Formats: sequence, C-alpha cells, structure tokens
Amino acid sequence: MKELIFLYGPSGSGKTRVGELLARKLHQPFADLDGVIEARAGMTIPEIFAGEAESGFRRQERRVLDEMLANHSGVLALGGGALLDEDNWSRVRAAGPIVCLTASMATLLDRLRGDEDQRPLLSECSAQSLRTLLDQRADHYASFRLQLDADGLSPEQVAREAQIMLGRFHVSGMGHSYDVRVQAGGLQSLGEGIVARGMRGPCMLVSDENVGALYGDEAMKSVRRAGFDVHKVILPAGESNKNLASISRLWESFLAAGLERGSTVVALGGGVVGDLAGFAASTFMRGVAWVNVPTSIMAMVDASLGGKTGANLPQGKNLIGAFHAPRLVLADPQTLTTLPDVEFSNGLAEVVKHAVISDPHLLTLCAKGKRAVHAQLEQIVSRSMAVKIDIIQGDPYESSWREVLNLGHTVGHAIEQLSNYRIRHGEAISMGMVAEARMSEDFGIAQAGLVEELVRVLTGLDLPVEIPDDIDRDRLPEAMGVDKKRSHGALRFALPVEVGRVRNGVEIENLEEMLAKL
Ligand SMILES: NC(=O)c1ccc[n+]([C@@H]2O[C@H](COP(=O)([O-])OP(=O)(O)OC[C@H]3O[C@@H](n4cnc5c(N)ncnc54)[C@H](O)[C@@H]3O)[C@@H](O)[C@H]2O)c1
Repeated sequence: MKELIFLYGPSGSGKTRVGELLARKLHQPFADLDGVIEARAGMTIPEIFAGEAESGFRRQERRVLDEMLANHSGVLALGGGALLDEDNWSRVRAAGPIVCLTASMATLLDRLRGDEDQRPLLSECSAQSLRTLLDQRADHYASFRLQLDADGLSPEQVAREAQIMLGRFHVSGMGHSYDVRVQAGGLQSLGEGIVARGMRGPCMLVSDENVGALYGDEAMKSVRRAGFDVHKVILPAGESNKNLASISRLWESFLAAGLERGSTVVALGGGVVGDLAGFAASTFMRGVAWVNVPTSIMAMVDASLGGKTGANLPQGKNLIGAFHAPRLVLADPQTLTTLPDVEFSNGLAEVVKHAVISDPHLLTLCAKGKRAVHAQLEQIVSRSMAVKIDIIQGDPYESSWREVLNLGHTVGHAIEQLSNYRIRHGEAISMGMVAEARMSEDFGIAQAGLVEELVRVLTGLDLPVEIPDDIDRDRLPEAMGVDKKRSHGALRFALPVEVGRVRNGVEIENLEEMLAKL
C-alpha cells in the first residue's frame, strides 16, 4: 500500500529539511517536488521561470506532481505555491495528510537571506516582497487543517512535532523495526495495515470479554476485508487472568485455527491482552508475527511500546516474559471513549510521568483537567507515546537511560505491593511520583514548586497523591527490594529535576529516613 505525507508552506518555512528528517525518522523515502522538477527539466527553477514564465513552471509542476502521486511513497515536500491550483490541491488532499508549516516574517526572511537567486517570486527578497506574497496566500495557507508553527524550533523539533501531529512513528533497535500509528478511527484500517506490512494469514484476533464485545466485530471485519482468514479468541478480562492458563488457551486456539509459522496474531485490548497475546505469539512455533491494537491509555502510552510481553506467576507479576516486538502498533483513541473512568485516570498517571520526563507541553495539556484531556486525546496519546518511543529507541534492552521510565515506579511498585494490589498501578505511580518529587526536593535536586505542580495536575486527573495511612512506611524499603542492612547504594532512583528533566541513577543514603517522612 502506497502512503504519502506532504509538507507544505511558504518558502523558507523549512519544508525540505524537515521533510528529510521526518522521512528518516519514519524510515520512508523523501522527495522534494522542486528538486525533482529541476532534475527532470535539467534547469534550475529560476531558469525555468526565465524561459517559460510562471505558467510554464506550473505546467511542469503539475506534470511532475502527477508522476509523484502515482509512484512516490513516503514524504514529499511541495513548492510554496504548488497547491494554489485547485486541481493539484484536491488530488494531493486525497493522497495523504498535508502538514502546513508556518513561521513569522522575521524567521522566513532570515532563512531566505542568501538564497534569493533560488526563489524567483521573491527576486528582491525584501521584507516588502515577502509580505505581499504572504498576504496574497494567507487564506490559502490557513486553509490547511494541520498547521505547524516552526518558529523558535529546530528542524529536528519541527519534524518531531510533525510526527506527533500525524501520529506516525517508527521504532527500531530491537530485532525488526516497526511502525506505530495513532489514528482516530484507525481500527477500520487495521486490515490494510496488516497487508501493507506483508503479513500473512490466517490471523487470530485475541481480545478480552469487554473489549471484544465492543470492538471485536469491527476489527474482524477490517481484517477480513483485507482478504485474510480470521479467527478470534476471547479471554476473561482482568489482571487475574494474566497467567499461564490463558497462555495455554491461546496456544491451543492458535493450533486449532491452523496458525502456522507465517501467520499473524492481533491483540485488541488493554495491557493484559497485549502482554498475553504478544507472549503467546513469541513462543508459538518459535515466534509468529503480531500486531498490537491497544485500547486503554495504559496500553497505548506504555505497554504497547518496547516489545515486552509476558504473564504473571502465582509468586509474582510479570515473572514470565520475552521481548517480542510487534510488526505494527495501531492506537485508535476513539476506542478510549468506552474506557471506564477509573481506568482512564489510571492510564493518565503514565502520561503525566512522560510529561515530567521530557514534555512540558504535555503537562500543560494535562493540567487543564480531565474534561480537557478528553477533548485532546489524540494529541495527548501521541505526545505521550513519542516520549516513550524516544527513550526506547535510545535503549531498547533497558540498560541505563531507559531507567528514567522508572520515575514514580520505585516507590509506586512498593505501594502497590504493600496494598496487595488493592491500589491500582496508575494510582500507586501517581503517589510514587509525588513521593519521589518530595525526596528530590529534600535532596536539593528538584526545583522549588515541582511538588505543588505535580499535586495540582494529578489531583485534577482524579489521581491520589498521598500514600494511605494503612501503608506501613517502614516496610517500603523491603518492598523495594532493599536489604535493610545495606540500603545505601542498593537502589538507584530516577528523580525529577523540573518538568521536562529527570536525573537518572540517584543513590539515596538515608532512604529509610526519607521514606518514613512521606
Ligand atoms: N509490556 C509492558 O511493557 C507493560 C507496560 C506497562 C503495563 N503492562 C501491563 O499492562 C497491564 C495493565 O494494562 P491496562 O491498564 O490496560 O489493564 P487491562 O488490560 O486489564 O485493562 C483494564 C480494563 O479496561 C478494559 N478495557 C480496555 N480497553 C477498553 C476500552 N477501550 N473500552 C472498554 N473497556 C476497556 C479491560 O477489559 C479491563 O477490564 C498490566 O498487566 C501491566 O503489567 C505492560
């Protein structure tokens, strides 16, 4: 399946550089329309303008655009006036998303300075000629839905923002690499996504009784429409079923449905379904391909990324597992409309964690409260996934940097465990983040005001921030796996410095004392 992404906007907005970076991040080819026109014509654009006037250039532009629409796949940067032509505009719009880059006059002029001879419609390249051109095209540029203001951002940052806006990522570093998509309504194109990645049938859809009842038919239809033979297995919902009995049931269902080495497993559900289906896929016939369609916030922003799969043993959580990256992660934020409220908040704790690690804008979105989060879900999910993807890209097998993802988890896991899992994971992480921020403040690492800010944001998302009195502070170190006699140096914390910055590997000497104060 051919996929195109277009970058558009005025000259100087950075389409070519950003386009190259975006294509590289997505592992896709890149082309610059003006560059291809010059190569075909054997002339520079000013030469084409000089010889054939603007009308001649536009004719060539249309011809080359047609050719690219038919043959190119990947990212295409368009010339600054390429979509003024209604016909070009409607064909491009039908072929893929268009991101329109914008920037202030000052930025555009700055970038164009020294480049005057390449821009025939800005021959004088004065502020006046640029202003006139921008005024003429203002309504035109404003008519695009996806607007990205490039002012004050480096090309790398603009490319990253474009990825978030488009909900498209590519994760590499663990065996094969894979695409991650965040797309409202994306469930309907699940089958196309499987075909596009060359995966084969028969397919087995794995879901739980809640998610299966809501979205199972839609997913099955999409996979069937794409030409696959598809079967389904529905597991009982909940963490208590994340066990070897469920894994066994999956293996047996795979066998009964005739799945072979080249077949495909599709996980549709929260983190429990993803972990179980991924693990069953990793072990069935020594590993079959799988697609993850996460349907809870927790599963989208955390569990679906990084390739960790597994199940619990009676002795403890996630004691069985394997790294087995999916071929595609397809997150459809529309499915979150049916997520129970308590699960919604639970997942938002991980979103706040990602915001604190490296995305202050994400924290600003979360600070607006739960209702506002509902209204911006696609962006929030995409931003949050982008943070985790950046981290796992740099450290796929969890050696060092990935430890920042433990923010709030060192204390949080201990709370979860001491409550006998009465306190949900997200709630415990929320308490853990605040506790660790307090420790960070005591330690002189966190900037003043961080704890208050975190408390305000988490409370606004209906998350608890204080550790309940029935959790014995004295037992926290033990629950963290710290030997009482040797607590110094035994644990390394990821502690927040400010929103967007975390210090990794902090060892705390007086841990018991600090925890007792919480
Ligand atoms: N593999 C990893 O790297 C990783 C990371 C984090 C968490 N996890 C695992 O993820 C699990 C937690 O994930 P979770 O919070 O999604 O739990 P979950 O899968 O149990 O889902 C929570 C509940 O929400 C329901 N649900 C999910 N999506 C829904 C939807 N769209 N509409 C209605 N109901 C829906 C489920 O049926 C379930 O009852 C844990 O087992 C945890 O260990 C794994």
